[in-house]
Amino acid sequence: MKVLIIGSGGREFGLAWAVKRSPKVTEVLVAPGNAGMAGLARCVPVAADDVEGLVKLAKAEKADLVIVGPEMPLTLGLVDRLQAQGIPAFGPSQAAAQLEGSKTFAKDFMQRHNIPTAKYRVCRTQAEAEAAVQEFGIPVVIKADGLAAGKGVTVAVTREQALEAIRQILLERVFGAAGEQLVIEECLVGEEASVLAFADGKTVVPMVAAQDHKRVFDADQGPNTGGMGAYAPTPVVTDELLEQIQREILEPTILGMAAEGMPYRGILYAGLMITAQGPKVIEYNCRFGDPETQVILPLLETDLVEIALDCIAGQLDEDRIWWKTQAAVCVVMAAGGYPGTFAKGQAISGLEAAQQVPGVMVWHAATTFKNGQFLTAGGRVLSVIAEGDTIAQAVERAYEAAAKIHFAGIHYRRDIAARALRRA
Ligand code: AMP
Ligand code: GLY
Repeated sequence: MKVLIIGSGGREFGLAWAVKRSPKVTEVLVAPGNAGMAGLARCVPVAADDVEGLVKLAKAEKADLVIVGPEMPLTLGLVDRLQAQGIPAFGPSQAAAQLEGSKTFAKDFMQRHNIPTAKYRVCRTQAEAEAAVQEFGIPVVIKADGLAAGKGVTVAVTREQALEAIRQILLERVFGAAGEQLVIEECLVGEEASVLAFADGKTVVPMVAAQDHKRVFDADQGPNTGGMGAYAPTPVVTDELLEQIQREILEPTILGMAAEGMPYRGILYAGLMITAQGPKVIEYNCRFGDPETQVILPLLETDLVEIALDCIAGQLDEDRIWWKTQAAVCVVMAAGGYPGTFAKGQAISGLEAAQQVPGVMVWHAATTFKNGQFLTAGGRVLSVIAEGDTIAQAVERAYEAAAKIHFAGIHYRRDIAARALRRA
């Protein structure tokens, strides 16, 4: 089989790595991919949001399966377009991807189906928004409705901050059309966890639960990022809690989407807050997480291609999905200044030495290759991933490897998985 993966980051490196291991697969293509994937896949320079170009590419290459990494092409309807051409595509339809693409859609959907989530109001005017802030009190959470690259959320700890966030979204339109309306929510308290699941339209099977580290600095300080590291399995999600999440969140979501005529096939990602009243949905994503993928895929024993084909065929079977009992940790190596402005083109050294550490892989997220050397090409540059028998062993290996990698301005968090270690 020839498999085409859409996207270019660490998540897509991981998808290429997993697909390449499948005995069914003879060739892996990634559009657009990155330089580090050269040994795994053939990269083709078509952008991940160029739906026309991607459909043409999949047809020209006679791809047997397309796996979509990022949310943008899903919300633009890439999967519908591919399926119309008879090309099997793994990911939700445009209608189903609204679970991520529109926060008001997601919140109203959860309300209709009694899926636990924060109380909320959808607001279109400043007056409505100010009334909602009054109603929920401080702290309060303000969210732009549409896709805002993970930056559309403010957890306001003062009334002034809340009003400023509302002004920026509704009046200054800092997120453009994504800010035509906003969602105001009560602030949930608890520990966060990412529970991703495979879905085939009627059946949903959770993966090992992971925890992401969204803030840029240690001890969850500084601005939000795409994710600075992750680990799995996370001890906050016990087996019992995972069953509750399956019963109260994942199953009602899949059944609800099917009942509303938008059967959900692909990866369903529930971003959860584990509150004193039980797990509640913070947000849905309609794709693999980055960097959660970097710790989930190494633990998956089953062939990802088989699972994707089963999902597309509506034949997902929990009994055919196996997980290793090990733990995995990912530390993201970021460019100096990220998530603000940062330099590109810095020479990277130590990649070989890092991968000599037992249980370690380095997955490229944003690199180029020039004159025999990898250079940085984005904010999140590399994912250093380690497996271990325990989280503690995986953490030790990941940091031993990370210390061997150098480029000007490199920075990374030193406390990935610290919460899990404190519990142990
Ligand atoms: P989101 O982009 O919706 O995942 O939100 C980004 C981050 O904001 C989440 O990872 C949470 O840390 C925080 N957040 C979002 N909604 C809430 C909420 N209702 N209560 C507390 N924190 C929230
Ligand atoms: N790691 C968070 C996300 O992928 O949205």
